[in-house]
Amino acid sequence: MAKKEDMKRIASLRQEIEKHNIAYYELDAPTIPDDQYDKLVRELADLEAKYPEQVVENSPTQKVGGRADRKFQTVSHIRQLLSLGNAFNLEELQDFLRRTKQPFADAEMDYIFEHKIDGLTVALTYENGVLQLGATRGDGLVGENVTANIKTIKGLPLTLKEALPKLVVRGEAYMSKAHFAALNEQRDETGEAVFANPRNAAAGSLRQLDAAITAERELEVLIYDIVYVEGKTFITHEEELTYLREQGFPVNPLYKKVSTIEEIDDFIRYWQEQRHSLPFEIDGLVLKVNQLAMREALGATAKAPRGAIAYKFPAEEVETKLLDIEISLGRTGVLTPTAILTPVLVAGSVISRASLHNADLIRERDLRIGDAVVIRKAGDVIPEVVRALPEKRTGEERVFAMPEVCPECGMPIVQPEGEVAHRCINSSCPSRYRERLIYFVSAGGMDIEGLGPQVVLQLLSHHLVADPGDLYTLKREDLLSLERMGEKSVDNLLRAIEKSKSNPGYQLLTALGIPLVGEKAAKVLAGFFSDIDSVLTAPVERLTAIHEIGGKMAASIHQWYEMEENRILIEKLKAVGVNMDLSGELLLGDDLRFSGMTFVVTGTMETKTREEMKSLIAYYGGKATDSVSKKTTYVVVGENAGSKRDKAIALNIPILSEAEFLTMLE
Ligand code: IVH
Repeated sequence: MAKKEDMKRIASLRQEIEKHNIAYYELDAPTIPDDQYDKLVRELADLEAKYPEQVVENSPTQKVGGRADRKFQTVSHIRQLLSLGNAFNLEELQDFLRRTKQPFADAEMDYIFEHKIDGLTVALTYENGVLQLGATRGDGLVGENVTANIKTIKGLPLTLKEALPKLVVRGEAYMSKAHFAALNEQRDETGEAVFANPRNAAAGSLRQLDAAITAERELEVLIYDIVYVEGKTFITHEEELTYLREQGFPVNPLYKKVSTIEEIDDFIRYWQEQRHSLPFEIDGLVLKVNQLAMREALGATAKAPRGAIAYKFPAEEVETKLLDIEISLGRTGVLTPTAILTPVLVAGSVISRASLHNADLIRERDLRIGDAVVIRKAGDVIPEVVRALPEKRTGEERVFAMPEVCPECGMPIVQPEGEVAHRCINSSCPSRYRERLIYFVSAGGMDIEGLGPQVVLQLLSHHLVADPGDLYTLKREDLLSLERMGEKSVDNLLRAIEKSKSNPGYQLLTALGIPLVGEKAAKVLAGFFSDIDSVLTAPVERLTAIHEIGGKMAASIHQWYEMEENRILIEKLKAVGVNMDLSGELLLGDDLRFSGMTFVVTGTMETKTREEMKSLIAYYGGKATDSVSKKTTYVVVGENAGSKRDKAIALNIPILSEAEFLTMLE
């Protein structure tokens, strides 16, 4: 009996610890203090010691290190990174103007009004014009060294035009609204917990121990401050911003120089209204004294400078009614509950549905069907049910329960251990075929014009197709039998299907819908493999050797291809002549750190083939050539390198080992 209890406890501890791990490592939102977490892990370890046969590979006790070990190295900031005081209305800003003007009598003075980007502070140190260190803010004095992750940020210069001895800049790393929406959609699809807003998503992405994951998340950055500089002086903040832009930093150009409360009011009104049109989320505006000497003289409190203040927008939350909770099934069998709401206008558009993501969220927020609820747009784009208003309950409300059997195929629904998602694990559930087909033909997949979800549903109900391969053998008569399909639309559709056969291979690779393999990953893979078969059959180590491909993705590709129906699909697509070729699809990445450089690779590399090396160089914007000349920037040498190496030495061209070359990619 006692053993049974212990087994139960082991399972529940594992589940609980895993949940805290996700909250801590991925969502950047710890749910319990470290000491309590440690207690749970210790209890689990004790139980596992009692029942050694129960120790499984993926138990949280078996993963490297505890919490503390998995953290980043800490770094002290050269100057304290202060926070900002807040103002919530115009009077408070009027007070700020008065306070900041008062010590300087009638002196000339103005202010810079900027967007307050909702991301996380990063401090970047450049020495002699080269990025040396990227750190999080931490407590303002000590942050974490996240240099490798920072380097994956699109548009961040690794070298500057002017090589000052030292320049430390501060900015905000963020995830655009579009990437945030796409990331959460993907996480919903694969049953991973979603991020509450772009800030959590950015923080969670930047604090990944595997920089390849950060790279996949496509973070961006805007620089807004010089923390420390040697070899240069600036008079105003505006000059600093201009200099930063000239040096190649991404700087938000949408600031305004203001000096009266009326101008301040105008700017607030404008952006309160227009904030939804920005590609990134802002949670307010920042007003800064422009004259740096005055800002300095105003000093700071323990937490914030006196010469700058944040104006916070009121959150746009709207009340409505939760009419029902609908369940939809995705292409991997995940059940997603969706709130059906009385339509209301929120932040510029009418909202009538909102994803509730999973059963945990509904339980945690205690949402009941019939409840009055508060909704808002997370990250300004995605409708979200924030909370219920229990004080408005009438007693008629119903508690929601996930269905126990699949609404489509009737098979039992399961919640795999450690997952927040409920799934239908019947791999031949009709929902999967339908969703996969819809995805395959969609704009993000093979992009077959005229083949929207409605047509797919008809094709399925007429039993004309079962998998994407069948699309290519559809006959004219078949299509004419469908509703609302005239001769002309049938001809157009057949032409569009035919045309898709010669889509670039990466598009097919995306359209297959392999979990975690989106368009970006497919493009990267296309640069390293000659055809789709070689991607699908590549050993996991070969896939993860590619900078942008993480372990989870590699495993997912492997699992996908292990399923017989997927192998059959590939053969079918091949037989009808769909392009499987990836050669010549060397696609440039966003990070062009090798631009202007020419590499020669010679000898045998340890972890990569020569072709992979060349692809990597090209991916980062460099050129790979075969012969060493004065124009060669670097020669990368492996085992048994011969004459090219000698020539490099003769011409005094820097020689890199494979390992040295790879550190340039960190
Ligand atoms: S100035 C000493 N400017 O807001 C100067 N901060 O609530 C301090 N933030 O920790 C910051 N956009 O992470 C400044 N244009 C902007 C900003 C900005 C976003 C963040 C920053 C800061 C937080 C304070």
